[in-house]
Amino acid sequence: MAKEKFTGVKGMNDMLPQDAPIWQHVQKTCVGVLEAYGYQEIRTPILENTRVFTRGVGEVTDIVEKEMYSFTDSMNGDQLTLRPECTSAVVRAVNEHNLLYGTTQRLWYCGPMFRHERPQRGRYRQFHQLGAEALGMAGPDIDAEMILMLARMWRALGVGPVKLEMNTLGAQNERQAHREALIAYFEAHRGELDEDAERRLYTNPLRILDTKNPEMQALVEAAPKLLDFLGSESRAFLNRLEELVSAAGIEYLINPRLVRGLDYYNHTVFEWITDKLGAQGTICGGGRYDPLVEMLGGRPAPGVGFAMGMERVIELMREVGSVPVRTQTDVYVLHHGGESQTAAIALSEELRDLGVRVITHPGEASIKSQMKKADASGAALAVFATADELANGTVGVKALRAGASAYAEQTLEPLEGAAAKIAAALAH
Ligand code: HAM
Repeated sequence: MAKEKFTGVKGMNDMLPQDAPIWQHVQKTCVGVLEAYGYQEIRTPILENTRVFTRGVGEVTDIVEKEMYSFTDSMNGDQLTLRPECTSAVVRAVNEHNLLYGTTQRLWYCGPMFRHERPQRGRYRQFHQLGAEALGMAGPDIDAEMILMLARMWRALGVGPVKLEMNTLGAQNERQAHREALIAYFEAHRGELDEDAERRLYTNPLRILDTKNPEMQALVEAAPKLLDFLGSESRAFLNRLEELVSAAGIEYLINPRLVRGLDYYNHTVFEWITDKLGAQGTICGGGRYDPLVEMLGGRPAPGVGFAMGMERVIELMREVGSVPVRTQTDVYVLHHGGESQTAAIALSEELRDLGVRVITHPGEASIKSQMKKADASGAALAVFATADELANGTVGVKALRAGASAYAEQTLEPLEGAAAKIAAALAH
């Protein structure tokens, strides 16, 4: 029988061991910043009832209309969906567990999301988001805090300059008045609408502003602007946000055409964009979603949040050369099998007790071949727990690369106390 070759699902990537350090570094760095602002982790299941997203994200959005992986649970007929985003799922969980009862919540999450999009550089069908949601806090100070927190993450990760664009979607009644003006405007220019715009004219005219069609740019450019429909409260909200962001020395652009692809937003929306990743240059998006908690069955409570695309952030870091080099192994222990192996394992355990990352050579092989493995492991030091050394009550220690300078020359250490000496040399 011919051997069958298996491949992963299109648009879904394996994270290989050589990529693990950068993924861990990004998450660790961002979580360090999130904790500095009082955020706590929440994990929700990858599957939710489909209604969580149709209700939360909105029926007339690209995500719900064409990108969700949905199926019927064959056991009980439930309609389920692989989460395309996590804000709706977090709000579902917060409501279900009454986490907003008389208090506020600052939450973060990190994990895979699923959207059936056309795969290309920076756009995948399984991708990873690291995001945060601040619930129960109504003021623009919290929106500003999100922006400051993100600016701090970009600095800590060293992603280089990224552009911040912000906009306001105002309050419900202002959006309604703007929507009516938009419909009237596009109706008056019906002949210039493409198929997508025609379809959205009465269901989601705001999204027409987001069109990528070059032939509609002039039309969209001249369309009524929501900014002109804002009342004094919405203006004050945006002004205060701008004040706080400016006071922190963060540059931004108000982009009146930034509407975002999800329906739950009101007031602030924002995106961080790089020009180094081609068409998929948005590394992070977010905004305020005051209606969502109630829309998903909770008592009304305001919310604001963001999510960054981890693949895009990592690719940007590679692009600007800010991926830190970090070896996975400190010490490789070589031996001659038998009693020498027993001693090697005991010494390795002692080293690990002291926080050293150790690979003990598996099985038996010539010292020459073990040295090749030691070198390839990236370890800083080779430790020879070989029969002849042990017979003298010693082990040999040799630096494999620049760094652990105490052992630039191969050195014999008394077995007793060797682990402590090696750990100390590595700490320098
Ligand atoms: P979003 O703009 O749909 O917002 O996604 C946020 C980020 O996820 C994007 O800026 C992008 O970096 C990344 N992303 C989205 N789709 C893909 C894809 N197919 N492949 C790779 N990366 C992708 C949300 O999901 C909202 N839940 C954000 C939010 C949180 N708003 C408030 N709180």
